[in-house]
Amino acid sequence: MFQAPKGTYDVLPGSAFLAVRDGLLEPARLAGYGYVEAPVFEDTELFARGVGASTDVVSKEMYSFTDRGGRSLTLRPEGTAGVVRAVLEHNLHKGQLPVKVRYAGPMFRAERPQAGRYRQFQQSGVEAIGLTDPALDAEVVALAWEAFQRLGLRQVRLLMTSLGDPACRPAYREELTAYLAGLDLDEATQERARINPLRVLDDKRPELQALLTSAPLMVDRLCADCKAHHEAVAAGLEALGVPFERAPRLVRGLDYYMRTTFEFLHDGLGAQSAVGGGGRYDGLSESVGGPPLPGIGWALGIERTLLALEAEGVTVPADSGVQVFVVPLGVAAKAWAVGFVGQLRARGIASDLAYGDRGLKGAMKAADRSRARWAVVVGDRDLDGSVAQLKDLTNGEQTAVPLTDLLEHLS
Ligand code: HAM
Repeated sequence: MFQAPKGTYDVLPGSAFLAVRDGLLEPARLAGYGYVEAPVFEDTELFARGVGASTDVVSKEMYSFTDRGGRSLTLRPEGTAGVVRAVLEHNLHKGQLPVKVRYAGPMFRAERPQAGRYRQFQQSGVEAIGLTDPALDAEVVALAWEAFQRLGLRQVRLLMTSLGDPACRPAYREELTAYLAGLDLDEATQERARINPLRVLDDKRPELQALLTSAPLMVDRLCADCKAHHEAVAAGLEALGVPFERAPRLVRGLDYYMRTTFEFLHDGLGAQSAVGGGGRYDGLSESVGGPPLPGIGWALGIERTLLALEAEGVTVPADSGVQVFVVPLGVAAKAWAVGFVGQLRARGIASDLAYGDRGLKGAMKAADRSRARWAVVVGDRDLDGSVAQLKDLTNGEQTAVPLTDLLEHLS
C-alpha cells in the first residue's frame, strides 16, 4: 500500500480546510484584493534572486528539477516572488496603484517534518504592490488580524518591527557584525553571522540570548524616513484597534524584507508557533529584474491555523454534509427520490439519498451518518398516497407531508 510522501498529508471530507483557507482571505476580498493564481512552479532563478540565495529556504529547502527542455524549475517555496513576477509580466503596475491581490495554494519546502511543519503546506496570502504609504502597511496587517479574529481565534499575538532600508541597514549590519565578532560564539553561529548577522539575534537559545542583551538593535538605528514610516504604521494600527507588540529582534527567513516586518504567533502550538508572517519588500521587484516597485504582504499558514483553532477549541463548520437525506424504500420510491434530490439541489439545498437498496434500517443509519437536519422517508405505498414522512433528525419527530408541499416545506 502506498502512503502520502513524507511531510505531506491529505485533506479529507469533514475538514474545515476550505472554510479556513477562504475565511483567512475574506477580509482582503472585502477590501478590494483581487484573486490571483500563479503557477506552482517557476524559474528557479526567480526564487534565488527574489527570496535570496543565502536563505535556508533557497539554499537547503527547494524542490528543484530540470524539465525535459533543460530548464531549471522549482516548486514554489512561497508565493510573493511569483505574484510580483506575474504583476510585472502583465504590467498590472502600470495601472491603478496599489495593485491589491490575494491568493491561496500549496507551497513546498524540504524541511524536517514535525507538528505544524510540512513539506507541502498551504498558505493564504495577500500582496499590495506599488506604494510605500504607511497607511497601506496598517491596512495589510489589520486584514490578517481581522481574519484570525473572524475565525474565532483569541490567542494570536502580532509582533512587529522595522528592518530599515538600504539607507540605514548596511551601517547597522556592520555595527552588529563587529559586536558579534567580540562575542565567544560557536562555529555554527559564527557561520550564520557571516551569512546574515541579523539572524543571530533571533536565535532562541537562552545562553545565546544572554550574550546578546546589549546587542545594537535596528529599531534604534533607523534613518529618519524609516523611523517616520515605522511610527506611522504603529499609529495606523492603533487607530484600527489592532494590538501589537514591538519585537526589535524579529528576523524573518526570507531576504526581501525591509522596513515593516511582522509575524503572528499562537502560543498553543509549541515550536512551530508562527501562524503567519509578512512585511514590506520594496527591493524585490528590482532584484528580479523589474523596475523599482515597493510592496507589502503576508501569508498565513492554513495547517497551523487549523491547529490553533483546535488548541482553542473553536469549531469552524466543514462545508461537506447535507441538509436533507432522502430514504426511498422500493423501486418506484427510488426513482422519485432521484428526481426529488435533483429539485432540492437546484434550489441550493444540499441533499443526498440512500443508495444501495439497504432496507429501512441501513438507510436510516446512512441518514444519521450524513448528519442531515431532515430525513425524507418514502415507500412505494407512500407514493400511492402522495405523502412522505418528514423526520427531524435532531429530535426524531416525524410528520406526514403531502408530496406536493414537500419542496416548498423544505425550502
Ligand atoms: P513565511 O513566514 O515563510 O512567509 O511563511 C508564512 C507562514 O506559512 C508561516 O508563518 C507559517 O504559518 C506557514 N509555513 C511556512 N513554512 C511552513 C511549513 N513548512 N509547514 C507549515 N506551514 C508553514 C512567506 O512565505 C512570505 N511569502 C509571506 C509574505 C507575503 N511576505 C510578504 N508577502
